[in-house]
Amino acid sequence: MGLMRVLLMSVVLVIVGRGEGQLVENFYSSTCPNVEAMVKQVVSMKFIQTNNTIPATLRLFFHDCFIEGCDASIIIASATNDAEKDALENLSLAGDGYDTVIKAKEAVEAACPGIVSCADILAIAARDVVVLARGPLFSVELGRRDGLISNKSQVQDNIPEPTFNLTQLTTLFARKNLSQFDMIALSGAHSIGFSHCSCFTNRLYPFVDPSLNYSYADELKETCKNTIKGPEPVVFMDPKTPGTLDNVYYQNLVAGKGLFTSDEVLYTDPETQPTVKDFARSPGYFNDAFAAAMKKLGRVGVKTGNQGEIRRDCTVFNDPGIS
Ligand code: HEM
Ligand SMILES: *[C@@H]1O[C@H](CO)[C@@H](O)[C@H](O)[C@H]1NC(C)=O
Ligand SMILES: *[C@@H]1O[C@H](CO)[C@@H](O)[C@H](O)[C@H]1NC(C)=O
Ligand SMILES: *[C@@H]1O[C@H](CO)[C@@H](O)[C@H](O)[C@H]1NC(C)=O
Ligand SMILES: *[C@@H]1O[C@H](CO)[C@@H](O)[C@H](O)[C@H]1NC(C)=O
Ligand SMILES: *[C@@H]1O[C@H](CO)[C@@H](O)[C@H](O)[C@H]1NC(C)=O
Ligand SMILES: *[C@@H]1O[C@H](CO)[C@@H](O)[C@H](O)[C@H]1NC(C)=O
Repeated sequence: MGLMRVLLMSVVLVIVGRGEGQLVENFYSSTCPNVEAMVKQVVSMKFIQTNNTIPATLRLFFHDCFIEGCDASIIIASATNDAEKDALENLSLAGDGYDTVIKAKEAVEAACPGIVSCADILAIAARDVVVLARGPLFSVELGRRDGLISNKSQVQDNIPEPTFNLTQLTTLFARKNLSQFDMIALSGAHSIGFSHCSCFTNRLYPFVDPSLNYSYADELKETCKNTIKGPEPVVFMDPKTPGTLDNVYYQNLVAGKGLFTSDEVLYTDPETQPTVKDFARSPGYFNDAFAAAMKKLGRVGVKTGNQGEIRRDCTVFNDPGIS
């Protein structure tokens, strides 16, 4: 009777665990057991080639999840330049993020053809780059299917702008089932990577934003004055520890060194200041909040079961007639 009950319980757990809209850890344990190791290997190789792999992949995951859900729709390349990717072309240095997912998919496809979604590969790669940046280690939930829509008209309303105020940030994240606390924690991703000057010149000209540290403002002006000639300059978003995903980002905010309006407002607004101070003080508290928020980010708008498809090539729908 004991055995029967255990068996029955496992069946129930599997059914509940894989219910509609649910992701599970070890989703591929019988169909592609080494998927996480294979992705990790490719991410590490790519990182050795360029350290830009870390911020590019993390940001790609964020954008993928916010536009049409975490379904790899951001990776679709459109011949007519009207996919999500095309609306983001000027936004970042994310080419290395796309390349990471495409290479990892090739490796996975060679071992387990037609099994693992591009959306899951991006989710695993995003976790791996967080770990490479010495952020928290967390388990990734899997079972996402790849989306069948990628339209650049959906980008604008779903990606936050660096000029956003707290209400705008909180509202947009709430639409994605992410709390204000999650939003503050995820903003800690700006502890790594670069920004172009145009994302924060609103805080330098015509006059310096009073919430911006004056000596920092002078440094930024110095760097950005070269914008007129040549390619647009970039600056590290965390000038102190630019390659480490840590709570120094929040210490910067306290010192008036948040780069974007959307960063600094987390400290200047009394509603969110206590959380920023707590994160600035405690690396452990931030790490736990960041890991938990990353898992929630990975659930946004996911397709599961028989929705969507398992793309063979991450850059094109299986049925090329779709786009
Ligand atoms: C809270 C609202 C957010 C706003 C307004 C915002 C905006 C931006 C902007 C304007 C840039 C600079 C892009 C460029 O100059 O090319 C940037 C970079 C970046 N963002 Fe965010 N972001 C937000 C949240 C997030 C989240 C939630 C994540 C990930 C969990 C993230 C990850 C990154 C990373 C890693 C970079 C650096 C990219 C690179 O170096 O290639 N951001 N963000
Ligand atoms: C990207 O920048 C170029 C040059 O500034 C501009 O012509 C183009 O319209 C921009 N593309 C997008 C999608 O914003
Ligand atoms: C993208 O969306 C726009 C506006 O909703 C629509 O007119 C267009 O046909 C869509 N493009 C594709 C390829 O689905
Ligand atoms: C935030 O921005 C929105 C849109 O520009 C504006 O309507 C709102 O009043 C702003 N809220 C605050 C608190 O500044
Ligand atoms: C990444 O590597 C380049 C040299 O290839 C170096 O200049 C830069 O500081 C590194 N970035 C980080 C965040 O460590
Ligand atoms: C501004 O930055 C300087 C130099 O890093 C620092 O000494 C100062 O404390 C900062 N100002 C404020 C108000 O935090
Ligand atoms: C938010 O959660 C609700 C309830 O679980 C779900 O129906 C909805 O699809 C979720 N929205 C997103 C964008 O994930």
